[in-house]
Amino acid sequence: MTNLKGKDILHGNQFSKKDIEAIIKVTSNFEKELKKKDSLTLLKGKILATLFYEPSTRTRLSFETAMQRLGGGVISMGSVESSSVAKGETLMDTVRTVSQYADVIVIRHPRTGSAREAADAVPIPVINAGDGTGQHPTQALLDIYTIQKELGSLKNLTISMIGDLKNGRTVHALAELLSLFKIRLYFVSPSSLRMPEEIINHLKQKGIEIEETEDMLKASNASNLIYMTRIQKERFTDLSKYEKLKGSYIINEEFLKKLKKKMTILHPLPRVDEITPEVDTYSGAAYFRQVRNGVFVRMALLSMVFGRTP
Ligand code: NCD
Repeated sequence: MTNLKGKDILHGNQFSKKDIEAIIKVTSNFEKELKKKDSLTLLKGKILATLFYEPSTRTRLSFETAMQRLGGGVISMGSVESSSVAKGETLMDTVRTVSQYADVIVIRHPRTGSAREAADAVPIPVINAGDGTGQHPTQALLDIYTIQKELGSLKNLTISMIGDLKNGRTVHALAELLSLFKIRLYFVSPSSLRMPEEIINHLKQKGIEIEETEDMLKASNASNLIYMTRIQKERFTDLSKYEKLKGSYIINEEFLKKLKKKMTILHPLPRVDEITPEVDTYSGAAYFRQVRNGVFVRMALLSMVFGRTP
């Protein structure tokens, strides 16, 4: 069994294929367990702290749900405005303080690399729930779990990642994880929002076939799965540029009609206008099932970090 005990979860590239397989297995067990029981007692007595310096709905609530379903407790800093961050406290001082109360910290922060800095400053495990435009490894793990579940396998797939590939931390982490499998990737984005060179080079070194294009339909029709993303408005210093780019790629009923076969569609959410609500009833639209998987995956990760898997 993979040893995540006492480890930080910071980056997509920290996992091996064996790790992923182990996480999928533990996740799937928890998914089955929760069909039988509402909650477990594996993490009774442990406390998780959530420190979110950026907005979140799914990541924070699913971590809190996961911890509570495992019988553990949760404390939360709440919004930045309601904490000592508003008085000017540094990130390091805040995480050092919180490590005196909690057994694990889940952190989201606008600066790339901040989760690693936090992890270096405290003795308890730190889980990166998004560091600026950097990484979002637990989202990528739930994406992988969802892909495996929806398509039955992670082998020989072609996946189109569409949207803001420059600023989207979920696609950065997911691309790293997918590179462990024999996979082909289409990166579909406006030219100013391409996947960072550093990630492309790393994937190519690992022998992953990549095609960059602006043509969403062509890429989608050559793929088994579409991973749609939001244009990350909060990363633009010039909002007029965002206004020009938003709406670059939209999945709507008209687009679905042009697809040659049934397509699985994922999105980390929140969506803005890139998937219209009429698509939600399409059988391949898996993004709300993906949301649910987030709880199971985070239960698996927490139980593994504490070395208390069933
Ligand atoms: C993503 C994020 O915060 O990076 N959301 C999430 O965690 N599910 C994606 C996004 O905000 O676009």
